[in-house]
Amino acid sequence: MKVWLLFLFLCCFCVPAFSSKTQPLIKRVRPVQSLKILVVFYSRTGTTRNIAREIAIKLGSDIEEIIDKKDRSGLFKFLESSEDTRSGKIAEIAEMKKNPKDYDLVIIGTPVWDETLSTPVRAYLLKHKDKLPENIAFFATSRVTEAKIVVKKAEMIIGKSFVSFTGFSSFSGDLSKERKEVIIQEFINTLKK
Ligand SMILES: Cc1cc2nc3c(=O)[nH]c(=O)nc-3n(C[C@H](O)[C@H](O)[C@H](O)COP(=O)(O)O)c2cc1C
Repeated sequence: MKVWLLFLFLCCFCVPAFSSKTQPLIKRVRPVQSLKILVVFYSRTGTTRNIAREIAIKLGSDIEEIIDKKDRSGLFKFLESSEDTRSGKIAEIAEMKKNPKDYDLVIIGTPVWDETLSTPVRAYLLKHKDKLPENIAFFATSRVTEAKIVVKKAEMIIGKSFVSFTGFSSFSGDLSKERKEVIIQEFINTLKK
């Protein structure tokens, strides 16, 4: 009788645990905290940097800033940056220290420039798209432009869809402490699914 009970126990619990069918389930329930995550961003005036840091702290992830070799401070440089974006000029960016290949998930952050990606982030994606992992998420900061408009353009560059994206528009009040917290948390929750 005891032998039969032991046999039944092994069939019910141990065999499914070693079956290949259980593997995708294990992958799906892997918590986001155990993934190796990199946040990569560019910021001209600090808004995107601030959000990127908060996301990285909440996820306990690595973070790296894209450094544009061109000085873009001040009004004239603002106009020049706008012109660079419209003409499709590729920014010269400094060598990155972190290899996106080493990560399970890479989160890209950019300010919106002329309804598209900032030129330094565009340069980063063009240069590193082949090293990006399958899981890429995205966020944009802007005055009014919605992130979804920029998402399509970014996805076209990398030839993949983002697993999740979000946006922070200062005009809509998304940069207030409370709103920002909510948007960041909702974004992180989507990465857990
Ligand atoms: C050259 C340039 C073009 C911009 N174009 C847009 C735009 O098309 N739509 C928008 O809502 N905001 C636009 N902005 C505003 C920025 O997206 C916004 O202020 C952003 O949060 C700045 O991020 P940062 O502080 O990280 O640089 C533009 C800013 C610059 C410098």
